[in-house]
Amino acid sequence: MAPQRIRDLLIRDLPEKASTLDAVLESFVDEVLPLCKNEASPRFLGFGDTGDDAAALAGGILALLTQQNLINQSFDSPSATFVEMQVLRWLRDLLGFTNPAASDVTTVWDVGGVVTHGGTASNTIAMMLAREHAAPDTTQHGVTDPGRFGVIVPRGIGHYSVKSALTWIGVGAQIIEVDTAGFRYDMSSLRRALRDHAGQIMAVVAYAGDSRTQTVEHLRAVHDVVHAADQGIWLHVDACWGLVCAFNERFRSMIDGIDLFDSVTVDPHKVMAVPYSLSALLVRRPAALRTISSYSDLIMQEDYAFGQVTPFIGTKGWMSLKLWMMIRAHGQTGLAEIAENRIERARRFATLVDDHPSLVRVHEPDLVAVAFMYLPEGTKLRRGNLSTTVVARINAVNQRIHSRMLAEGQWHLHQFSLPDDLGRLRPGATLYPLRFMANNPRTTEQDMTQVLTYVSRLGRDLESEAR
Ligand SMILES: Cc1ncc(COP(=O)(O)O)c(C=O)c1O
Repeated sequence: MAPQRIRDLLIRDLPEKASTLDAVLESFVDEVLPLCKNEASPRFLGFGDTGDDAAALAGGILALLTQQNLINQSFDSPSATFVEMQVLRWLRDLLGFTNPAASDVTTVWDVGGVVTHGGTASNTIAMMLAREHAAPDTTQHGVTDPGRFGVIVPRGIGHYSVKSALTWIGVGAQIIEVDTAGFRYDMSSLRRALRDHAGQIMAVVAYAGDSRTQTVEHLRAVHDVVHAADQGIWLHVDACWGLVCAFNERFRSMIDGIDLFDSVTVDPHKVMAVPYSLSALLVRRPAALRTISSYSDLIMQEDYAFGQVTPFIGTKGWMSLKLWMMIRAHGQTGLAEIAENRIERARRFATLVDDHPSLVRVHEPDLVAVAFMYLPEGTKLRRGNLSTTVVARINAVNQRIHSRMLAEGQWHLHQFSLPDDLGRLRPGATLYPLRFMANNPRTTEQDMTQVLTYVSRLGRDLESEAR
């Protein structure tokens, strides 16, 4: 339904009279629910934030019913605070960060992480930590030398949250984009950027699973190159997607070196079937969080008050209970199986794309994303030989396929711009592929073949309509 129609259906005047709860529920079920997305449908293939793990859902409901507030421990969340710590410690364990003995955790600054509402918030806190590392006490004195807050990101594939974070924390959007090769930093370009901008860089951001192709960076190599240039640069990994590699020994080598980075963002609501929302920022040196702490004589005068280390957030619900229940329900063996099944499903989908005569895959899938394009009839593709005109025509038809797919509402694949880093169509061109995500255990082989048949049929229909 067009958004304006939904707006006109749902935006009403402030109700004057009371309604029974039954009446309110009925109106929700009749008017609102039928228009909600169903991300857990096996045909919703664009993102895969299914949020449907039974234990995680139970945790979400219990968090609502218990009404704990993670801002303080003593009177606000006597046990929840320690469940939250436990979850953060498990995430640290998975990534290879060391945890102090539980008996040595005497304050929130010993924990080494915070729970936030999403990857955007976690990345923003990471950028604040980088700022304080580059220019201590900016929290108190403000920015005095704006030239030193540059942040290196990979060109064309970084997530917008890092740039937004820089604007929000007042250091200016000084993003330095560095060329990539195969959706990872091109190491000689990275070295050059570090040299050219020496003294102006506060952080380098690497992606363990970028938001488009989910390619996992060679983290150890990035660490080594940056440290050889300047050991004072804050190293941040956005592992919103890459956390899944930590579940299974088979994939762990992909994130080798992650524990050398100063901070890591993870997003369990993306990769652990945990309902919205739940993210965490983990730091290599727990005490780093002291640099961005808040103090108040109103509340939080106690060692275990998480409110002191979560910038932008005061009152905070018990988001971590969902993950505590999910991890307890699955254990390490269950997590390993989840990772295995998803990555195998993505590989199977990649094979189906490769076997299809009118489709081309535009990257090598590391995790669960597979981006591909429909090739109009008669396209003679041989190793990136296409002209800009032909690439423009292919982009146009893929964009039309996506719009038609959204309009018909039977299937969902995602679409975005992507540099042709592997030169599949034309090296350096900007592509508009369709993206499949293999997170949902309900997505079967049949769904995968059907969606590809659907895409190629739409492509053919659109071409013949254009003739
Ligand atoms: C790599 C990456 N980082 C950060 C984010 C932002 O996460 P959130 O939407 O949880 O704030 C996303 C979201 O897609 C992402 O893909």
